[in-house]
Amino acid sequence: MPRIPRDRNPDSTIALLLDPYGFVSKRCRRYRSDLFLARILLRKTICMTGPEAAELFYRQDLFVRRGATPGRIQKTLFGRGGVQGMDGEAHRHRKQMFMSLMAPERIDHLRELVDGLWHVYARKWAAMDRVVLYDEVQELLTKAVCAWAGVPLPEPEVSRRTAQLTALFDDAGAIGPRHWWSRLSRKGSERWIEDIIEQIRAGRLNPPEDSAARVIATWRDLDGALLSPRVAAVELLNILRPTVAVSVFITFAAHALHRFPACRQELRTDDESLEFFVQEVRRFYPFFPAVLARARRDLEWNGYRFPRGRRVMLDLYGTNRDPRAWDAPEEFRPERFRDWDGSPFNFIPQGGGDHALNHRCPGEWITIELMKVSCGFLAATVDYDVPDQDLQIDTARLPAIPKSRFMMSNVRPRS
Ligand code: HEM
Repeated sequence: MPRIPRDRNPDSTIALLLDPYGFVSKRCRRYRSDLFLARILLRKTICMTGPEAAELFYRQDLFVRRGATPGRIQKTLFGRGGVQGMDGEAHRHRKQMFMSLMAPERIDHLRELVDGLWHVYARKWAAMDRVVLYDEVQELLTKAVCAWAGVPLPEPEVSRRTAQLTALFDDAGAIGPRHWWSRLSRKGSERWIEDIIEQIRAGRLNPPEDSAARVIATWRDLDGALLSPRVAAVELLNILRPTVAVSVFITFAAHALHRFPACRQELRTDDESLEFFVQEVRRFYPFFPAVLARARRDLEWNGYRFPRGRRVMLDLYGTNRDPRAWDAPEEFRPERFRDWDGSPFNFIPQGGGDHALNHRCPGEWITIELMKVSCGFLAATVDYDVPDQDLQIDTARLPAIPKSRFMMSNVRPRS
């Protein structure tokens, strides 16, 4: 039986932190293999890349999520007790709660809220010297998603809540003070949302029946019990936080419109181009680098042995750029999506497999719609200048963003 290639470092945690997006695929190329073994955060981890590896990773008879995520990610990005760490029937049932929030008319409603706010913010930006798009869009999306989800957000609280929700994804992967700020924000935002859940259950707050706040506050697990207020808060934050995180992709979309100006003209004229452009932004730009699971039992794949309990890391970013699935993967070419085969394993910026059965992101449709409305607005409704700035993408940061966070000036209605 062949041996899984081993990374040279006795511990690869630092190497992963220095290059979170290239870590797996570069080593796989070096070892001429789809997988290798490394020690990460003191645990042996099999790192894998490519569509075939993705197909393996999403086999629920072979892998589980329980116990796969490091504590520092649970204490910041995910929270404890949420859907990400569940398996089997319990996971499928909880996942239904998220899927029930994704009806097309509900997504339309969120899109309309975001569209309205783009107009409001563009008027504000017209009077500003410099607009830092990443920061502004975080606030815009916080307002939109709270309104949509049935979470009251009085105007004086907007900047504090935006900062808290942003810290959950923007600072979670950092080390040092930013990471501690993210932990603090997790505690603060769970307290905030637990209070909302309790108000709904006590009948003091009455958000609409189909709002996320109401659905989650009244959801019953398989044992028939309501979620504890803390777990309900973790799950409602699983809606609020990642919707605000769409600001990362919107900032990348603005970056792409600037770097590939020919796209802008097409987006103005053609709805299909908008879809392809958004998909290519999700494929091309680095956001969520990888996902983790553990082997449910001893198993064998392509002749390699995975012992029971072994942690496994699937490279999302590298799979989206795998030359076996994509021609010229390093080039930004939206039209490539005209011929994409729709495989659930070769284009996985938000995970792969099946939305209802696997851990694949249930917010994928929201992400695409919010990116479309935002790109459409930037391309067709406003004009703006892009002043001199450092637009390099900082790929040592998690999530990667342009160093300047994308600045605009002279924002004006399109003439
Ligand atoms: C799961 C990425 C937006 C809610 C995931 C996963 C990834 C991801 C990589 C894990 C897949 C896996 O474990 O196999 C992203 C990115 C987004 C985004 C890059 C862009 C901002 C959203 C939105 C929502 C959302 C807008 C909700 C409104 C969730 C939830 C899960 C999840 C609840 C856990 C699903 C499960 O464990 O079954 N997302 N997501 N995400 N996402 Fe997203």
